[in-house]
Amino acid sequence: MTNDERWAVAAGRAGAFNAKGAPLDVRRIRADFPILAQSVNGKRVVFLDSAASSQKPIQVLQAMDEVYRCAYANVHRGVYAFSEAATARYDEARAKVARFIGAPSAEQIVFTRNATEALNLLAYSYGRHFLRPGDEILITELEHHANFVPWQVLAQERGLTLKFIPITPEGQLDLQRLDERLTPRTKLVSFAHVSNVLGTITDPRPIIQRAHAIGAKVIVDGSQSAPHMPVNVGAMDCDFLVFSGHKMLGPTGIGVLYGKRELLEAMPPFLTGGDMISAVGFDGPRWNEVPLKFEAGTPAFVEAIGLGAAVDYLDALGMEAVRAHEREITAYALERISEVPGAKIVGPTDPEIRGGVVTFTLDRVHPHDLASLLDRDGVAIRAGHHCAQPLHIRLGLSATARASFYVYNELHEVDALIEAIYKAKAALKR
Ligand code: ALA
Repeated sequence: MTNDERWAVAAGRAGAFNAKGAPLDVRRIRADFPILAQSVNGKRVVFLDSAASSQKPIQVLQAMDEVYRCAYANVHRGVYAFSEAATARYDEARAKVARFIGAPSAEQIVFTRNATEALNLLAYSYGRHFLRPGDEILITELEHHANFVPWQVLAQERGLTLKFIPITPEGQLDLQRLDERLTPRTKLVSFAHVSNVLGTITDPRPIIQRAHAIGAKVIVDGSQSAPHMPVNVGAMDCDFLVFSGHKMLGPTGIGVLYGKRELLEAMPPFLTGGDMISAVGFDGPRWNEVPLKFEAGTPAFVEAIGLGAAVDYLDALGMEAVRAHEREITAYALERISEVPGAKIVGPTDPEIRGGVVTFTLDRVHPHDLASLLDRDGVAIRAGHHCAQPLHIRLGLSATARASFYVYNELHEVDALIEAIYKAKAALKR
């Protein structure tokens, strides 16, 4: 078998089992995730922390392994076979990501380290170049730190005003207040498509339309949506979309910034160095075309190829089916957790408007104690402020417990969670 044939097999392995639109065959999916067969404290692991980072299927691991074994050399720099093969696979990964989110062209996909770096790129490049003292940036009360701190820093540095769309008591964005928050000075609006704490799914279109009507540009933070539901930048008409590879079955160290072409072209580079220039003389550099203008230095191309394999995997499952599966498991978890005496769900209780994230508090039990006790039973959840401290301040909570789901989770894992919660309550005499 040639290396290219081996690659085609590795790349094509994903999803041979799932007919488009069919419900997920979770047993088959689980067989692709070797880590899920591991035991923790003598118990089969119940992994309920995919909102922080997802597990990886063998198809992703093999795609990366294949490059290192068969076609590894630096991209864009060699006229020999390995470099050309690696470059072709890197380009192919970019095209897959573009198709996955409905981007008009692969050149509008900038590879970054993660969503956080993509947002920092926007703050540095777009924010520092196009915003003037007195301009306003509008975000929301439910953002995680990645979509909060870069704007706070930019506002402090440049004399901008940072405003917030408030949340309702049910944990949705209060869009009644949107028009009063949008002013002729609003230049940038940035919000989470799905909250990593409340799970709230926000319809981006009304916000984008109203922001565009006053001339503001809009960033959609797809960290918790792109991995879990169909996302189409054309239908949304957002100006930018960001997300991370590691939350969507891909490796760490690779993320995505999508942007409208004219905006990416008008923006100055973020980092400078090799590959992002077209020429350098003693009198100065000339920038490369987008997206390379934003990809200084040797890129994480093996990770990008891994992300391409993750996109293949999700595509083969079908994002509608992924969402339907998570809606079902979320509905079950909302019901079972709310039956536990002393438990209180944080955020919307309607699974139609909630992504696969169920956050809760338990009366007189600190979330960290709960998470540690659950770990004894092999159940992994996240506890704390989930990188969203301002939201917790707004909710009047210092910490919460969060179970989050993905394509490999089964309903009986929610039962295991509930059983472990009861055991933890008994251990703490609550
Ligand atoms: N933002 C990530 C989370 O929600 C890290 O856990």
